[in-house]
Formats: sequence, structure tokens, C-alpha cells
Amino acid sequence: MKIILIGYMGSGKSVVGKGLSEELDLPFYDLDQEIVAREGLDIPSIFKEKGEIGFRKIEMQVLTELLERDESYVLSLGGGTPCYGNSMEVIKHTNDARSIYLKASLKTLLGRLWEEREFRPLIAHLDSQELLEDFLRKHLFERQFYYNQSDLVVEVNEKDVEEIIDQVKDLLHEHRAISSL
Ligand code: S3P
Repeated sequence: MKIILIGYMGSGKSVVGKGLSEELDLPFYDLDQEIVAREGLDIPSIFKEKGEIGFRKIEMQVLTELLERDESYVLSLGGGTPCYGNSMEVIKHTNDARSIYLKASLKTLLGRLWEEREFRPLIAHLDSQELLEDFLRKHLFERQFYYNQSDLVVEVNEKDVEEIIDQVKDLLHEHRAISSL
């Protein structure tokens, strides 16, 4: 099975994905890291050199290649991956893929992203907490349309990584049991 983690920047996709892959003894891929390895550039440099549109094209191509592999794994997407091109449709039509939305509240994201924003090209320019909050509120609202198309949803607010991993595993078991009925 391909387990695909979806969620806004700062929702914990990478750390949860890595931990989950270790517990399930599956390979782990982080889409951003795959893009960085392929391009030989970090994410801010790709945005700078190729623009966001260039980044989205590479992102879609790397995602498609990973989904076409005949392999089980855990894959953490970038926060914007499901919201561009037809990526959510492609994920939904991949038979052995199960998507999980790690759902974080605006408050949780604001607390995490303020300190880390300089590494994230979409929010690096927001130089007050008020501006960041306004941006996140609107952006999260727009993106939830895509995130909510995931097969499963796990709320991550105030939970530690282990708790989130356990919930993801439980939900995957239930989902598997229900879909085999
Ligand atoms: C983005 C999220 C980032 C990275 C890029 C764009 C987005 O990934 O793909 O900066 O559009 O939300 P993370 O969600 O892993 O930070």
C-alpha cells in the first residue's frame, strides 16, 4: 500500500511520515526531498530560479513517477501538492494509495510556522504575526477543499507524534476492514 500524507506546511507530515514508515517497516519518501535531490537545489532556490509555476511542474512530475512505482511506501507531500494540476485526482485513481489529511488548526500552524517561515518561500516575506495569521487563514480555507478529499483525516492539534502515528495506523486498519466488506 502507498500511504500518502497530506496537510498544510507545519502540520507534521515529514516527521509523522518518517516515524510511520519505521513502524510499518516501509520505505519513506518526502516529496520535497525527492525534488531537492533531483534538481540539486533547495526549495527556496528552485522557487527563485524557476518560479512557483516551475516548482509545481517538477512537483507534479516527481509525484506521478512515485505513484507509478510498483512499491509500497509512506510518502509525505508538500503542503501545496494536492492543490495544483490534477494531483488529487491522480492520487484518488491510484488503486493502492490511501491518502491521510493531517489536519492542524490555524492556531497550531501559526505557532509552528512563525519561527520557521524564512525556509518557506510562500510565507518568508510575512514580517509580522498579524500578516502571517491573515495569510494562513485565507490560504488554509482555500486549500481545505483539496485536503478534505483525502480518504482519512487525523486531527493533530496538541498530540505528540506517537499519538498521531497510532491514530493513523488505527484508521488505516479500519479503512482496510471496511473496504474489504
Ligand atoms: C509548499 C510547502 C512546502 C514546499 C514548498 C511549497 C506549499 O512543503 O513544498 O515550499 O505550497 O504549501 P512543506 O509542506 O513540507 O513545508
